[in-house]
Amino acid sequence: MNNWWKKATVYQVYPRSFKDTNNDGIGDIRGIIEKLDYLEKLGIDLLWITPMYVSPQKDNGYDISDYYQIDPLYGTMADFEELVQEAEKRKIAIMMDMVLNHTSTEHQWFKEARKSRNNPYRDFYFWQDPKPDGTPPNNWKSRFGGTAWKYDEATGQSYLHSFDESQADLNWENEAVRKECGKILAFWAKKGIKGVRLDVVNLLSKTPGLPDDPIVGPTGDGRTHNVDGPKIHQYLHELNQQVFGPMQLVTVGEMSSSTPEECVLYSQEEREELSMIFSFYHMKADYQDNAKWTNEPFSLAKLKQSQSLLQQKMHEGNGWNALFYSNHDQPRALSRFGDDRIYRQESAKMLAITLFGQQGTTYIYQGEEIGMTNAYFSTIEEYRDPESLNAYRELLASGVSDREALIILQLKSRDNARTPMQWDDSKYQGFSAVEPWLVVNNNQISAEKELKDPNSIFYTYQRLIAYRKMFPVFTEGDYRLLDEEHSELFCYERTCNQEKLLVISNFTRKNVAYQLPSDYKTAEILESNYGRKQVEAAFQLKPYESLMIYQK
Ligand code: GLC
Ligand code: CA
Repeated sequence: MNNWWKKATVYQVYPRSFKDTNNDGIGDIRGIIEKLDYLEKLGIDLLWITPMYVSPQKDNGYDISDYYQIDPLYGTMADFEELVQEAEKRKIAIMMDMVLNHTSTEHQWFKEARKSRNNPYRDFYFWQDPKPDGTPPNNWKSRFGGTAWKYDEATGQSYLHSFDESQADLNWENEAVRKECGKILAFWAKKGIKGVRLDVVNLLSKTPGLPDDPIVGPTGDGRTHNVDGPKIHQYLHELNQQVFGPMQLVTVGEMSSSTPEECVLYSQEEREELSMIFSFYHMKADYQDNAKWTNEPFSLAKLKQSQSLLQQKMHEGNGWNALFYSNHDQPRALSRFGDDRIYRQESAKMLAITLFGQQGTTYIYQGEEIGMTNAYFSTIEEYRDPESLNAYRELLASGVSDREALIILQLKSRDNARTPMQWDDSKYQGFSAVEPWLVVNNNQISAEKELKDPNSIFYTYQRLIAYRKMFPVFTEGDYRLLDEEHSELFCYERTCNQEKLLVISNFTRKNVAYQLPSDYKTAEILESNYGRKQVEAAFQLKPYESLMIYQK
């Protein structure tokens, strides 16, 4: 099999915030086309675009009401086809985002389903009677807060929604649902896309009967019965046989809270399920006892442990990782794990080096390559994301003060990463000529500046993307965490035949002394965020200094 995507780098576009060309304040497909040269220059291979299908936009497109059409907000099908062709000319393949766990409640299937209990589409979704005391059918929680059930007057039953109440979960036990989803995937594959990112795909199979979650506490939200459910591997294998395999699609599944063992099963090549997975354990390095909406400082120990565990397990089990520090659902990694003020350049490069040395396919989220930072909105009115708005309400209801709730949102809200892309220094940073849908971060950072500076973050990424194609150790090497107990450094080593790669990253503002392992005395420095040219037996690492060292 041709696993070209193992050496590839994927760039994620959140179209709403990428580039607006018709001046309605919302990014569009023509905006993506306009920036293809920029992406080609960066050197990326695949472009993952978050959903652009017809949608009421309650969750920015993750609530789909028609899978076969482009939402006019973003353009037309002709624009999309042009994008596929123009990207291909630049050797960039398109990866579409597919949401198959739920549809919008505006989708035709759901509109039918809610009409009566014996409508043929009823069984496309999960409907249950409320408990005799009027409470929801079970104790599952929505990922966006509150119960996962919504009572529907018309038929006197409730439907399951693992996310917003406008996103009804599809019943994958129903073969007709599985067939329809296969058809949707084949339709887009025929349009010439080369990849799909499968939204919350580990939730597709639920324990039959939908029993209560026995766990009490933040993880007792239903995940015992809706994550990695009994038939999930069967469903993915079926899709693989029907579509992914025959259409040669690269696939990545979003696997929040799947164990490393499950991640291996999803992505082992011979099992023919998915090409790779996103795991999220390392995104909990600033959670307090698994709870996201807390003001908890980031723990380097947790980041190292979670990433290293997955690196090792996936290597041993022959699974494949999707490597990322940022996406549209996470605050900016630079603000989270680095220093986005005094050492912005240094820490952005340090994070890039730390991630790109690991095993897996690398992902860059728009703006990461120019060091964009959190939005740090100071009022609740600036937020748009339903998850953040719910969290704010719940925080206040639980007794947290308004000030503290706003601080927590500044640290954790998804809107931090959704502010418009900063292209230049003009009023709306070159994103649009009118006021954008979400406040622009006016902080002097721009792609234009990055491109002019040969020492910029952008060119660090450009080189890292290239190294991954040049040296087999990046794709094939095993992984060993070094100096495990060190509280300031993240160091690891990759080995493959004669090749060795050593990554040393200082995650603090302090100078840190470091002894180079003796087998790297004649090694070459591939990448340094302080312009170091030669290895030394002992280093004084500067604040957020990072080195990528190669030995053959
Ligand atoms: C995924 C998406 C997120 C969305 C959710 C519901 O986690 O990445 O943006 O809100 O699924 O579809
Ligand atoms: Ca637009």
